[in-house]
Parts: sequence; C-alpha cells; structure tokens
Amino acid sequence: MASVPHGGKLINRVEKLQGNLIRDLKRIQITEAELTDLECISTGVYSPLKGFMLKEDYESVLTDMRLKTGEIWTIPITLSISNNIIAELKGEKKLALEYDGEVYGFIEVQEMYQVDLKREAELVYGTTDHDHPGVANLFERPSNYIGGPVTMIKRIPADFPAFSFTPEASRALFKQKGWKTIVGFQTRNPIHRAHEYLQKTALEHVDGLFLHPLVGKTKSDDIPAEIRMKCYEVLLSNYYPKERYILGVFSSSMRYAGPREAIFHAIVRKNFGCTHFIVGRDHAGVGDYYGTYDAQRLFDQFDENELGITPIRLEHSFYCVKCKQMTSLKTCPHSKQDHIHLSGTKVRKMLKEGTTPPEYFSRKEVVEILVEYYKKLKD
Ligand code: ADX
Repeated sequence: MASVPHGGKLINRVEKLQGNLIRDLKRIQITEAELTDLECISTGVYSPLKGFMLKEDYESVLTDMRLKTGEIWTIPITLSISNNIIAELKGEKKLALEYDGEVYGFIEVQEMYQVDLKREAELVYGTTDHDHPGVANLFERPSNYIGGPVTMIKRIPADFPAFSFTPEASRALFKQKGWKTIVGFQTRNPIHRAHEYLQKTALEHVDGLFLHPLVGKTKSDDIPAEIRMKCYEVLLSNYYPKERYILGVFSSSMRYAGPREAIFHAIVRKNFGCTHFIVGRDHAGVGDYYGTYDAQRLFDQFDENELGITPIRLEHSFYCVKCKQMTSLKTCPHSKQDHIHLSGTKVRKMLKEGTTPPEYFSRKEVVEILVEYYKKLKD
C-alpha cells in the first residue's frame, strides 16, 4: 500500500474561480520558484502545507526541522515581497499571485514578517557563501515574507504533460500497477551508470521504481530538463523492464541544501505515494559544502515510522575495472587505482571539452543525446 501522506491527508487547493473575484484583488509578482511552490502546495505535493509559511512555522522549520504542529519539515516554503510595495499592501486581505502577466492564484494574507536571510542561509544551507547557488538565490530575495493559505486558480502549463502527475494521480497509477512498495528517485542530472546501479539495487527490494526527476529551476550549468527527459526515456525503454517503472516529473526548484533537502525530497515522494526513497552520496549537494554521507546521517535523527518513508541509503558507487561493473567499497575488494568515479559534474566537464563519455560512465543512447546537446550549445 502506498504510504500515508505527510500529515495524514493530501491537500488540494486548486479551484476554478470566477474571474471577477480575482480581478478586484491587488496583484503581486511572484518568481518562477515561488510559482512552482504555489503549485506544489496546491496539488498536495507539499502536504500538509496549505500555504506559504507563517513566521511560527518558518522559525520552527529553521530551528527544529518541524512545523509548529510537529510534523517533520526541513525547508522553508515562503513567499517574498519587496520592501517598496509593503506599505501599499497594508490592510489587503487577499492578494492575487501573478507570474509573467498571468494570475495563477491568491494568498489569504495572515501575516507579513521580516526575516534575517543570513540566519536562514546558515540554518538551512549551513553556509552564507554567495558561491553556493541556493544561498545566492536566497540572498536575491527580499527579506520580507507573506504567510497564509493559498488557492491556485490556474495550473502552470505542463512542460511534460505525459509525465506530470499530481500525488493523487501517481498513487492511482501505483495502485493500478499493483505495486505495494515503491522506491522514489530524485535527480537533477541525466541518469548515469551510478544512478542506474542505485535504482536497480533498490528495485531488487521493492515492486516499482518512481523515477522522479526535478524539472523546476536548477542552476545554469545543470543540463536542461527537456534534454534530461529525453535521456530518461531512452534509458528506461532500453534498459528497464517496462512493468517496473513510472517516469514522472517533480516541478519544484532545486535548493542545493544537501541534507535538509534530502529529507524534504523524501517527504515529497511520500506524498506521491512512495514507500522508499534512495539517498546516495551527497544528495542534493553542490561543491564541497556537505559531506558525502551528511544527508544519510540526517535521516538517522528522525524516527523512520514518524517520517513515514524508508530511506534506502546507498554507498558512493563507482566503476571498478577489475570487477568490470558498478560497485562500491561495500562490495568491491580492489584498490583505489581500479576505481573510476563518476559524477554529473564530471560528465558535464567532459562534454563541454568535446570528449565523449565512455560507456562505463553513461549508456551510449544517453551519451548520444548529450553530445548532440553540447554540440548545439557550441554552434
Ligand atoms: S540531486 O538531486 O541529489 O542533486 P543527483 O542527480 O546528483 O541529484 O543524484 C541523484 C541521487 O543519486 C542522489 O540520491 C545522490 O545521492 C545519488 N548519487 C549520484 N551519484 C552517485 C554515486 N556515484 N554514488 C552514490 N550515489 C550517487
């Protein structure tokens, strides 16, 4: 049976509203990341959140990694508002949320509060370094937040409609497939052999794989979602039994918050109906900000039953030239010199330099798509 949603039930805050109700509201501009958060809240991806966080929740998430009602929650989900329009908004009970000229929903304003972005960076990201892409994004936001429940009146046109499932829809699909145990896999990279090894190792223990790449905003040198989607499709159709996987997209933005984001990623996949979640090396990390197994260790701080999804912790995996396969220090007896370490960063570097990644790095069908993409980038 798919896992129980976080907080007990799936939130649904999508409503068809009469246009004139919205027309009278003052509008505020939201960012792309805030828009995807609005959709994730409204479609139950972020259950039990019903809106952008109030100060009490925000504080509790920062200091205790829990909502004020007690549920585990590690990443603040907030709506920012620039200083110069705050005065104009005093007394407004509802505000329309506009992105790129379209109103997607509204917020019932319960609170406006000021935050210390440096403190948020320190507590959530463990650093205030502007070179950290998540911290850089955070510091670009104003330090005033608006909290309150939201309603979405227009869904974001899906970039990948065939793979855009709400948690309700993915749960129904899992049921239809007869899967009782489902492992979720988060990624922001094309699937390389290490990822494939992790997924298949996990799949040996469960009924199905929910390959769930994040397709919202990522840092500029990450490979764009439309290219990655082509890679996932070609890989799945050539190397995975079709009755054992579902490809779906997670349309949120990447925070690069390492351990805290790993917990958040697991909770989200629990809402989609997964019972298990893969946590490998440096999950959601970037550069050297987090240790290889920091994300796995943060899961140790929470009771698995309370979290409601089982982390499958997997070792840093690599290709061993003696074993002639993907392996890890747990299963390979050979020396360091025999080990070839793979990472998305390395593949990107090779591709940028015009080197074709070898087959032990990435499947040839995936490499072909990536080579083509990088060639076009150069032209
Ligand atoms: S991210 O969203 O976590 O940043 P990424 O695509 O880099 O995405 O990784 C997806 C998942 O695979 C994460 O759980 C990560 O820990 C794991 N992972 C990636 N490469 C390896 C590897 N070589 N060994 C073990 N785990 C890995």
